[in-house]
Amino acid sequence: MSDKNPELTAAIKEKLKPKKFTKNPILGTKFTIAISSAKGGVGKSTFATNLAIALKKIGCKVGLLDADIYGPSIPKMFDINEKPKSDGQKLDPIIKYNVQCMSIGFLTDQQTPMIWRGPMVTSAIKTFTQKVNWKDLDFIIVDMPPGTGDTQLTFSQEIKMDGAIIVSTPQEVALLDVKRGIRMFDKLGVKILGLVDNMSYFIADDGKKYKIFGEGGVKKTAEEFQKEFLGEIPINPEVGKTSDEGIPLVESNPQHEISKIYINFAEIIKSTYL
Ligand SMILES: Nc1ncnc2c1ncn2[C@@H]1O[C@H](COP(=O)(O)OP(=O)(O)OP(=O)(O)O)[C@@H](O)[C@H]1O
Ligand SMILES: [Mg+2]
Repeated sequence: MSDKNPELTAAIKEKLKPKKFTKNPILGTKFTIAISSAKGGVGKSTFATNLAIALKKIGCKVGLLDADIYGPSIPKMFDINEKPKSDGQKLDPIIKYNVQCMSIGFLTDQQTPMIWRGPMVTSAIKTFTQKVNWKDLDFIIVDMPPGTGDTQLTFSQEIKMDGAIIVSTPQEVALLDVKRGIRMFDKLGVKILGLVDNMSYFIADDGKKYKIFGEGGVKKTAEEFQKEFLGEIPINPEVGKTSDEGIPLVESNPQHEISKIYINFAEIIKSTYL
């Protein structure tokens, strides 16, 4: 670089310096845990909602932050139709099933597509993390959108993230994306708590286990990247039905065998942090 114009050279050098981000904690919470997977439709939102309720059931104070700006799921899965109140400065989360919730879907008409550019998504995420009256929480569970885009980047670089759980189905095509997701968090310095194998098998009426999407892929991926394998959740129509009804399985039927699996995951998280 020429030093003919030292002022300009200094300005360019400053621009080229790697940016240092300040990681802000989400006010009002102790720990922030992301539920992620670069792949779409593998059950992140289902896991996030049931896990939030499971943590509440074992005595934690929990928030649920829907970070999926383009395709929010929490309003439907928690059957929330009201708008959050604001004091002009901050928004109050909506409390349902004793979980403090926030979603872009509470603020917009659910039928309207969000046609937003990246910076607008980043600004929505900042509002949800810095301008919501989250109160006295042990955990905020963040339901991430699919992909490795602006939302993941904003959370990883600008918000103090205490861990991420990666949810996947066992198909090769899902695992390819999951590997990208793992590399992204590793690169951005977010601790991965472990991988969950969702929809890993189906138990038919004959009592037999059917491995519909293949076998062992998520566990193998965990080993390959030296991450924890946290366990499996089978396919069960009750899981989808209860989410569609707006009362997730762990809330509607805490004794269900799949609810017990979610509660076990919650115990792991609680004992890791508290
Ligand atoms: N264990 C399960 N058994 C049966 N159905 C499930 C299970 N887990 C998730 N589903 C169903 O799979 C579909 C996708 O789940 P979900 O919306 O949670 O995925 P996602 O990863 O959040 O998707 P997106 O990437 O679009 O945000 C839903 O219809 C949900 O009810
Ligand atoms: Mg989702």
